[in-house]
Amino acid sequence: GFNLKGRSLLTLEDYSPEEIKYLLSIAKNAKEESRAGVMHQRFLGKTIALIFEKRSTRTRCAFETAFGEEGGHPVFLSTQDIQLGAKESIEDTARVLGRMFNAIEFRGFKQETVEALAKYSGIPVYNGLTDLYHPTQVLADLLTIQEEFGTLKGVKIAYVGDGRNNMANSLIIGCAKMGLDFTIVAPKKLWPEEKLVTIAKEYCKTSQGLITLTEDPKEGVKDAQVIYTDVWASMGEEDKMKQRMKFLSPYQVNQELMKSTGRKDTIFLHCLPAVKEKEVTTEVMEGYQSRVWDQAENRKHTIKAIMLATI
Ligand code: CP
Ligand code: NVA
Repeated sequence: GFNLKGRSLLTLEDYSPEEIKYLLSIAKNAKEESRAGVMHQRFLGKTIALIFEKRSTRTRCAFETAFGEEGGHPVFLSTQDIQLGAKESIEDTARVLGRMFNAIEFRGFKQETVEALAKYSGIPVYNGLTDLYHPTQVLADLLTIQEEFGTLKGVKIAYVGDGRNNMANSLIIGCAKMGLDFTIVAPKKLWPEEKLVTIAKEYCKTSQGLITLTEDPKEGVKDAQVIYTDVWASMGEEDKMKQRMKFLSPYQVNQELMKSTGRKDTIFLHCLPAVKEKEVTTEVMEGYQSRVWDQAENRKHTIKAIMLATI
């Protein structure tokens, strides 16, 4: 077995492939139990602080419902409510929360903030999205892929669009660790940082994963079992949308691109929220290949898994 008690999840880099596999197996169980109506009280008497500097539907609801249905008490704190960063330093806030709560979730701008919370609180801290990473999303993505294809190893996934955002950054690490065949399909200026690609390729040496970068949408999605996309402008960079639309429009995931894989079993994934008719057409979102609602549901089961394993 694995003992992950006390561990934080700030980036998937902190977890070994075996540990990720273990988390996915806990999530699978949690999902089956939830479907069967099996109830536990595994967080009875426990509390978690959910800090949000940015908006959220899925992440907040996944943490609140997963923690609450196990008998725990989640406390939602927007930055309108607490002193964090404004009237009190992150370090001091972290030390106070560490005395009162059993865990912290943080969604916001800087990766350094979530790292400081972990360093100074002394309790498990989960990254619920920063400008740099979105690790809990990738756990849900991997579970969804595993459910569909029965395996992760060798599954060919093409991530199309903004290849430099938190999703691309986390997917490249997660897929490399778990041995997927991962292609970034994006204009060169939106390719991931070279440093990250080097790290991912290093993981591939032991996982037999594959990392490819291409500018060509048709070529990039060829043979893909999964086509994944995300918004063209992430939270905090709304001012970039106009410019992004110019060079990302050839990368829209539409029926034609879905067909370009040359496979019948290709599925479509999106972390959501989606901007329809921009990065993806309504037809694809609503189409038979879309698994986005299963993927969204899996946020809850995988988030429950990471909390069960670490609290
Ligand atoms: N995918 C995701 O993180 O969604 P929210 O922004 O709604 O939490
Ligand atoms: N890249 C998106 C993901 C939202 C879940 C953003 O940061 O806005």
